[in-house]
Amino acid sequence: MGEYKSHEYDVLVVGAGGAGLRAAIEASAAGVKVGLVCKSLLGKAHTVMAEGGIAAALANVDDRDNWRVHFADTMRGGQYVNNFRMAELHAKEAPARVNELEKWGAMFDRTPDGKILQRNFGGHRYPRLAHVGDRTGLELIRTLQDHGIHQGMSVHMECTLVGLLKDGDRVVGALGIERDRGRFIVFRAKAIVLATGGIGRAYRITSNSWEYTGDGHAMAYEAGAELLDMEFLQFHPTGMVWPPSVAGILVTEGVRGEGGVLRNNKGERFMFQDIPANYKGQTADNEEEGWRYCQGDKNARRPPELLTRDHVARCIVREIKQGRGSPHGGVFLDISWIKQRIKNGEDHIKKKLPSMYHQFKELAGIDITKEPMEVGPTTHYVMGGVRVDADTQMSRLPGLFACGECAAGINGANRLGGNSLSDLIVFGKRAGEFAAAWSKEHGHGTIRDGEVDEKIKAALAPLDEKSAAGSAEDSPFRIQHDLQVMMQDRVGIVRTGPEMADAITAIEKLKARAAKVPVYGNREYNPGWHTQIDLKNLLICSEAVARSAIERKESRGAHFRDDFPDKSADFAKFNHVTFKAADGTMQVRRETISDMPAELKAIIEEMK
Ligand code: FUM
Repeated sequence: MGEYKSHEYDVLVVGAGGAGLRAAIEASAAGVKVGLVCKSLLGKAHTVMAEGGIAAALANVDDRDNWRVHFADTMRGGQYVNNFRMAELHAKEAPARVNELEKWGAMFDRTPDGKILQRNFGGHRYPRLAHVGDRTGLELIRTLQDHGIHQGMSVHMECTLVGLLKDGDRVVGALGIERDRGRFIVFRAKAIVLATGGIGRAYRITSNSWEYTGDGHAMAYEAGAELLDMEFLQFHPTGMVWPPSVAGILVTEGVRGEGGVLRNNKGERFMFQDIPANYKGQTADNEEEGWRYCQGDKNARRPPELLTRDHVARCIVREIKQGRGSPHGGVFLDISWIKQRIKNGEDHIKKKLPSMYHQFKELAGIDITKEPMEVGPTTHYVMGGVRVDADTQMSRLPGLFACGECAAGINGANRLGGNSLSDLIVFGKRAGEFAAAWSKEHGHGTIRDGEVDEKIKAALAPLDEKSAAGSAEDSPFRIQHDLQVMMQDRVGIVRTGPEMADAITAIEKLKARAAKVPVYGNREYNPGWHTQIDLKNLLICSEAVARSAIERKESRGAHFRDDFPDKSADFAKFNHVTFKAADGTMQVRRETISDMPAELKAIIEEMK
């Protein structure tokens, strides 16, 4: 105990998905010493699950597009509780960031005249998603990785952080564990950028892989930063439902962007039956017009499958609950039908959606050029996260920055598909730039040996079987499974106050189990130990979701309450802020959204 390696950086970036890589690149370019920590291998990030494209108003396919329309779409999609400054910066800067990616080697699909091709996605008024088939996130990661490794940053792979280290209020370092050998590392840093992604592993059905346990959210909260909008969790409408071993894996919205339609077991295109008032004028009311839209007819309105994700996910749940689902508990998503309209349709589908073709063929034995897929909602993305300043991405703790999915603000109550890849590169760049600037203006703070020792002791405690007083039958894996089942059931797509109150009680019980669960084995190669460490973060995030969701007594965006099914003008004025009170309890307070500047208001009015 007390033994650890040390590394010293000007800027430490935690997480090596799109946001972390982009932040590290920017900080390195500013000439400071950068360390990059990732929980698994470099390049393995949830970013790759944003398959269908990056949203940026390049106006390559429809020249009516511009940042103002993108801004208005993002605000409307987020039901106006977004941080409008972040939505503005994002819409203005996304085109430059996409062009920069191209300069760095990203191989985007092309229009016939050689520009970056853009496709339709839910909630975006015009075709706006720059893409690489259905592997856009992968190409983004590949490009940033290739560019980044030449910038001189040091990469620490397979390293989990277990806590931030502070000097007074200021964050001055972090404690990590090498996952393979179980050795501790103290990172001393003038600035830390959290880019750890989401919290999907708190749910049973998710597109997130094992790394996404809310580490950045929880470490920031524990250190005294605030979390914002935690009630808003995105259930992507289309994940695989069959076979069970692959349930939750993403089926890109790009399928619907290319003309894929949703049907129930009666063959009905049920999305036509419920078009929200605020999208009525812009949504097709017949199949023909929807198809023309997908083919680029500028006078046609979008098909209802391209409404926002929150709405599409709820319609799918309704069909399943009312007995009109598919054999394995989903609905049908059919792209094969476009063969009736397109010459060489099979080749067209394979060219546009190569990963989907491969994924269904390999994992489910389904040829999507010939038969429909079965799909259902999957936990995909958390709109809530660390509260940051819109321009600099710094949290309320000096020296602590956050960007990407683990930061909150831009998306409000619901994120539009494709806005996350652009969020990552717009705000990743900003976080890297401002963290580097901060590090140039501040020296290293002081790390107390005592604080490091306490954190090491806490991390090692579960390995001491004698002091772990929990049932020998229990295990970290079992607790995580129980949490996932409970959250899916009680704080899922459709919520009620009493169910969420039950969830809080259940979380308290799970916390008690997690605190004393025995972990067998030693520090080397011990997945049980690492799951026990993840549990703390998952439980903090789950509690934040449930407590914020209890407070929002209305339905808005991704947060739908059966006991308050309508939107409330009162709640339109608030965000919820989650914080750790002096007595250690989790508290949620309301905070009034500040007035939008007149020029932004005018854009929204004009676009309505
Ligand atoms: O459906 C998708 O390709 C996911 C995109 C996203 O979440 O932005």
